[in-house]
Amino acid sequence: MRRLSHPIGEFQLSPASARARFDALQEKREHNKNADDPLFRPVDADDFRINGADAIDFSNLVENGLIRVTMPLPMNVKLIDPATGQPSEETSVDLWRAVMPVLNVAITGSDGVLPIWPPGAPRPPIMGQDPNGPNRQGGYQHDARFGTLQEQARGALFAHAEVSVEPPTGMLDDLAAFQQTLFSSPGVELLANAILSGSTSFPDPDPELDELEQEGKVVFNRACAQCHGGALHPSGTTGETTFVRPIARYHNIQTACPRPTTDGFAPCPQRLERNARAYRITRADGTFQFVTTSDPGRLLLTGQPADLSVMDVTQLRGISKTAPYFHNNSAASLEEMLDHYDAFFARVTRLNPPPNLPPFLSSNGLVVDRGFVATGERAALLAYLRKL
Ligand code: HEC
Repeated sequence: MRRLSHPIGEFQLSPASARARFDALQEKREHNKNADDPLFRPVDADDFRINGADAIDFSNLVENGLIRVTMPLPMNVKLIDPATGQPSEETSVDLWRAVMPVLNVAITGSDGVLPIWPPGAPRPPIMGQDPNGPNRQGGYQHDARFGTLQEQARGALFAHAEVSVEPPTGMLDDLAAFQQTLFSSPGVELLANAILSGSTSFPDPDPELDELEQEGKVVFNRACAQCHGGALHPSGTTGETTFVRPIARYHNIQTACPRPTTDGFAPCPQRLERNARAYRITRADGTFQFVTTSDPGRLLLTGQPADLSVMDVTQLRGISKTAPYFHNNSAASLEEMLDHYDAFFARVTRLNPPPNLPPFLSSNGLVVDRGFVATGERAALLAYLRKL
């Protein structure tokens, strides 16, 4: 199949572009009350649950660039009704998630690399539910709930375009094939071709790097590649295979809101904090755990408390053109994103001190020799990230 490198940027939904489209739509509606933009249908409005077809509140789209995603609740998970403080009868929850760029999807998704999620001891199922969830070695969307691009497209057609009949398989295949032609750079396209052809040697997709960028690449390979993929494991979403295992595919890097108040995390702004809901989770032993979060992540696929706010690792190629970052667009810039990792690495080190440092921070559990970025390394890392 012929692949095209597509100019980046046209497929990214930012708060600014959502706001501009919203303003343009309001202007058009002054002359034509039937003017339409498929981004602003009632089903994607904040107040759809309450107002249905009359919903008009698009705050999450225009302030945060986030889309409403409705997820069914696992049997052991209840939402707490804010009015009464008691578990509610709701059977699904509204979450607000960033639209992932379609570029480079040819090198994301499932990768078949060990360890299979979750690593470690088998989990007890709760109320008979699958304790591991779907796509245990990667998938599509922030929680990897879709195993194929066809499933992903079908989900979007039902949830957002509100189709009522089953979309034809051929159309889903065409959509998947088209997306797999979209790359952030010719280098990534060459890499994708090598991976898809089953080759065991991979071209490095980086463009030519100056000295600072090369220093940044060294920092990246030490501090980020263990989760985001590096030279010998280039899918861009799977941990570098040269690192001591197990480094699994899914992680809670504390991006949901509210954030921990320790370790130097920036508090979430109110526009994101307001998306948090309180949940009651029934554990395997029948006791309750209460949490308040804007996004329970893979917990909604398994009911397992250990999956709370656990997300798939995002691919980083072309990242300089796709701000803001994380599943809730909570980091406005690459600098803010690095501030977040400083706090995250500090937290994990505090909670799992030597000799129990996890593999993404340490090769032996004793010393932090991976997941950290020294202040003096920041400029180089940022320079490299802008070249990815
Ligand atoms: C423990 C594994 C882990 C490590 C180490 C790690 N990341 Fe991540 N990264 C993730 C996960 C999981 C996500 C998705 C989180 C979310 O969306 O909320 C992510 C998301 C991101 C994003 C957002 C991408 C987007 O399109 O929104 C960026 C940028 C990023 N990481 C950069 C880095 C950099 C730079 C480093 C090294 C300093 C790093 N990561 C280290 C797991 C990791």
